[in-house]
Amino acid sequence: MALLPILRYPDRRLSKVAKPVVRVDDRIKRLVADMAQTMYDAPGIGLAATQVDVHEQVIVIDISTTHDELHVFINPRIVHSSDIECEAEEGCLSVPGIYDRVVRPERVTVAALDANGEQFELEADGLLAVCIQHEMDHLLGTVFVEHLSQLKQARIKNKLRKLERESA
Ligand code: NI
Repeated sequence: MALLPILRYPDRRLSKVAKPVVRVDDRIKRLVADMAQTMYDAPGIGLAATQVDVHEQVIVIDISTTHDELHVFINPRIVHSSDIECEAEEGCLSVPGIYDRVVRPERVTVAALDANGEQFELEADGLLAVCIQHEMDHLLGTVFVEHLSQLKQARIKNKLRKLERESA
């Protein structure tokens, strides 16, 4: 397993749309293992392949405090989302230090392949539902801050560019 470098917003590669995984083979299994390790190391509760510059539809999530409830979603699609929405604070490993509130459907049912290539469906609410939708956005090239106002986005870009210059 290996730690993978995480792209930082506003890196343009975060805007790429991920392609479906054709076959859950050894390469994909290695990617899943590396992404999980990278997420736990960060530490974070979710990571999309887009964030490690792999533009295929792979997501890992673990919202447990014990770091032993890994969810793997390959080629995920939302088959149902609730009309009821809720607002929750989000953060992102690609947007370090920035947290803000985003409105999303409160409950989603997602269909995907697991790390063994088996089809499954999962109904999620609360933090897991937020996280699934946040990571699926990444696969479409959308970072959560792009749900915020233009003014906030401009401020966040400036702040992150400044941090990058300071650490360079
Ligand atoms: Ni994110």
